[in-house]
Amino acid sequence: MTARIGTVAFQGIDTLAIDVQVQLTNGLPAFTIVGLPDKAVAESRERVRGALHGLGLSLPAKRITVNLAPADVVKEGSHFDLPIALSLLVAMEILPAEELCLYLALGELSLDGAITAVAGVLPAALNAASRDLGLICPAACGGEAAWAATETGRLAVLAPPHLLALVNHFKGSQILSPPEPRIADDAAILPDMRDIKGQESAKRAVEVAAAGGHNLLMAGPPGSGKSMLAQRLPGLLPPLDASEALEITMVHSVAGQLPGGGLMRRRPYRDPHHSASLPALVGGGARAKPGEISLAHNGVLFLDELPEFNRQTLEALRQPLESGRAVVARANHHVTYPARFQLIAAMNPCRCGHLDDPAIACGRAPRCAADYQSRLSGPLLDRIDLHIDVPAVRATDLSLPPATEGSAEIKVRVCEARARQAARYRNITGVRLNAHADGELLMQVAAPEPAGKALLDKAAEQMRLSARGYHRILRVARTLADLEGAPAVSRPHIAEALGYRRAFPGTG
Ligand SMILES: Nc1ncnc2c1ncn2[C@@H]1O[C@H](COP(=O)(O)OP(=O)(O)O)[C@@H](O)[C@H]1O
Ligand SMILES: [Mg+2]
Ligand SMILES: [Zn+2]
Repeated sequence: MTARIGTVAFQGIDTLAIDVQVQLTNGLPAFTIVGLPDKAVAESRERVRGALHGLGLSLPAKRITVNLAPADVVKEGSHFDLPIALSLLVAMEILPAEELCLYLALGELSLDGAITAVAGVLPAALNAASRDLGLICPAACGGEAAWAATETGRLAVLAPPHLLALVNHFKGSQILSPPEPRIADDAAILPDMRDIKGQESAKRAVEVAAAGGHNLLMAGPPGSGKSMLAQRLPGLLPPLDASEALEITMVHSVAGQLPGGGLMRRRPYRDPHHSASLPALVGGGARAKPGEISLAHNGVLFLDELPEFNRQTLEALRQPLESGRAVVARANHHVTYPARFQLIAAMNPCRCGHLDDPAIACGRAPRCAADYQSRLSGPLLDRIDLHIDVPAVRATDLSLPPATEGSAEIKVRVCEARARQAARYRNITGVRLNAHADGELLMQVAAPEPAGKALLDKAAEQMRLSARGYHRILRVARTLADLEGAPAVSRPHIAEALGYRRAFPGTG
């Protein structure tokens, strides 16, 4: 007989339905898996053999053929262990075929039969719900699955810790209770803007970045508070809406980065070290896992010491910064992950960090700075709307009383500005914030009043702004107007926006 159970293969955060079929035939005992299994899937055989042994069973002395259909999709990962074992147990008539075919299963087996966590349970659960199937997944991933069950209202979830518990459940000698939904990350308290003394203009820039979704580059000496500022951005952003929360949770699920499972309610904040490899940052590697930029989707990506990142890695950010998606190439296809992140970058003004420092002068100025800044390409810098200097904190500032305004107050303004943008762009696909608006759209929505236009045109001529540079000013000015609730962009907005550009070599 042929036994079968459903599972999934992953393509990005999308799932493909896979059928795991097991056939036992007479002949020399053998155990083969066909249907483009990768190495981890091929090794399933040994884990399944071990897990069955853990149940006190041995493999039937027959030819065991496992077919993963459709045959033309590459099957990657260790989550095929569980469906293969279940299908085999059906073929051995230990589990009831008519019940198992109502489930989709995924999970890794350890040699003693324990079912261990795998990535991607949330997308698999949604796939199961869409096909009116139940889900069998590892106990450790029960929270993710339970959330999908509550959300869709029609998903039966079994989350056994061990293969034995599952067999007993179907035999009726042990009842598996459904797992509890969990929220992944609600407890942590975000750091507050109130902790930052002085640095009024840098704080203002962070507020503007939050309001319009703009990328921000901060240059300043070590210890001036750049990291502190970046860490406080997520606390200024509005909460995720339901679809944003689902998307980002799916990415984390596929990456195997949902410890404890459950839905993510917080915007992600990722701060990879500058030694991060290209696959770690943009995605790829052995199983085309999502990279940091996708894990930061709908949230903040902080790149400290930006010029220290590998040049190729930095250039690979350009495309996702533009499109909001990360394309990861595989041998014969590619996988796409969402990657609409807000980039906050920090750098020292020069390699040694002491340019303009009155106490410890930079010995190699001005070359030190020019060399260092030239590691950042013009096209990359062009995608960063706000460039600011963060000077060293003054000792007198440190003794100031705490600021009267904290993150909560700033967040109110940010949310109002974002609501104005949402209303303005509601009919434009792919644009929700000013940061996403391109040239033509900006000419419509951010056309300045005459005095503002005059100032911008004069500045454009004097600073020899490129078209991109010109649009950047308009984009930021639009956000400044939105923060005020002003319907039109006027001269003060243009004037302030002009202040958020640094003279980097090669940018206009
Ligand atoms: N404006 C500031 N207000 C209060 N503390 C500050 C400020 N700037 C820096 N600090 C202190 O200095 C430390 C280093 O700041 P950090 O943000 O890491 O600087 P940077 O990233 O620019 O090197 C912080 O942990 C904080 O204690
Ligand atoms: Mg720092
Ligand atoms: Zn220097």
